[in-house]
Amino acid sequence: MDVNSVNIEEIVKQVLQGMKEAPKSTAANTSAGTIPKTSKVAMLTKLETFELKEYPIPELGDDDILVKVEGCGICGTDAHEYKRDPFGLIPVVLGHEGTGEIVKMGKNVKKDSAGKSLNIGDKVVTCMIFKDNPDITMFDLNKQNVGGADVYGLLPDDDVHLNGWFADYIVIRGGSTVFNVSDLDLDSRILIEPSAVLIHAVERAKTTGILRFNSRVVVQGCGPIGLLCIAVLRTMGIENIVAVDGEQKRLDFAKELGATKSVNFKDHNGIEALAKGVEDAFGGYLADFAFQCTGSPVAHANIYKFIRNGGGLCELGFFINGGDATINPHFDICAKEITTVGSWVYTLRDYATTFDFLKRAKGIGLPINKLITHKYPLSQINEGYVTNLKMEGLKIAIINE
Ligand SMILES: NC(=O)c1ccc[n+]([C@@H]2O[C@H](COP(=O)([O-])OP(=O)(O)OC[C@H]3O[C@@H](n4cnc5c(N)ncnc54)[C@H](O)[C@@H]3O)[C@@H](O)[C@H]2O)c1
Ligand SMILES: [Zn+2]
Repeated sequence: MDVNSVNIEEIVKQVLQGMKEAPKSTAANTSAGTIPKTSKVAMLTKLETFELKEYPIPELGDDDILVKVEGCGICGTDAHEYKRDPFGLIPVVLGHEGTGEIVKMGKNVKKDSAGKSLNIGDKVVTCMIFKDNPDITMFDLNKQNVGGADVYGLLPDDDVHLNGWFADYIVIRGGSTVFNVSDLDLDSRILIEPSAVLIHAVERAKTTGILRFNSRVVVQGCGPIGLLCIAVLRTMGIENIVAVDGEQKRLDFAKELGATKSVNFKDHNGIEALAKGVEDAFGGYLADFAFQCTGSPVAHANIYKFIRNGGGLCELGFFINGGDATINPHFDICAKEITTVGSWVYTLRDYATTFDFLKRAKGIGLPINKLITHKYPLSQINEGYVTNLKMEGLKIAIINE
């Protein structure tokens, strides 16, 4: 999508303001196709159990949008909720990496959160960052104690029930952040949310001034996050990338997504040997910059050994508390003058950049869509979660029939 970075802030403000101020009426624009009276949802009714339930599709408010869901990825957060309900949401309809087609909308709905027009038949995604400042981060939202208030798929159940993307239909309430992404294919649309995490991480990395076109970059961890990191770097023109992981299949895929070389830590005995392995992969140099994409404290401690004096590090592997890491502040940071940045979730502006990334990745032939290794229909959502928890694939998606 062509978002002018200078005026997006103004556009987002105007659109959200316009949505708030519009007069009330009961009229709605509807698709030519028939909309059923009820919608199925996959309701997590107890730990590790989704039940398919059917609820009436409600009357839409003038600012609301009814979307027929096409698909939704399973996120690590969903898996935590499924196993332990840490947010105390049960019963809940999960799914926040979803996308679908607008089939009906309130008469006030005209534009998406970037100012692009919205019409019946358009494909859309929601975004959890909903404030009218495109640069606001999840950290800022938490400070204001409003974090998560707009996260479809992590909303408490209410009398509408159509609150998450693991469903046939979802009701997007007026004022929510919504983007028209009709120019992306279904798989790319499902990958928007996790990809935005990497757009943000690379933007954070760029603030160090160390990441450049000809940088040697190490990416540690080749799950969906590390693999998308490699793809984002590659679409930016960075070509000297070494991937580090212990799973050979993931390392092989890292090369398909743009890594030049890979290093399997299981082939190296101890951190000195592993660091030598990384150095050899760069032809006798340590990395200028490193992205830490595992949730392992040991991996955090290791990564400093891969970075040259004066290099940089972006740590993004700890979405939640994964415990403490032991490093030597003198040898690992001070004496080497390492510049580190942390990265958590994304901003609204990163979300818009992500649409362009996905188009560019496809344009240069990166097989991004192969990240979705398993697809299940809504009726087999429990099987999808079991596959996710067994860590058999990369991204598992529910695709509606
Ligand atoms: N910063 C954010 O906003 C954000 C957002 C989403 C996810 N995350 C975090 O990013 C991390 C990666 O996510 P994912 O979905 O790719 O997870 P994943 O578990 O699929 O992948 C992690 C990879 O790291 C590898 N690994 C583990 N220990 C290692 C070590 N010592 N050295 C090298 N590789 C090692 C594993 O083999 C695996 O392939 C997770 O911890 C997740 O919580 C952060
Ligand atoms: Zn997610």
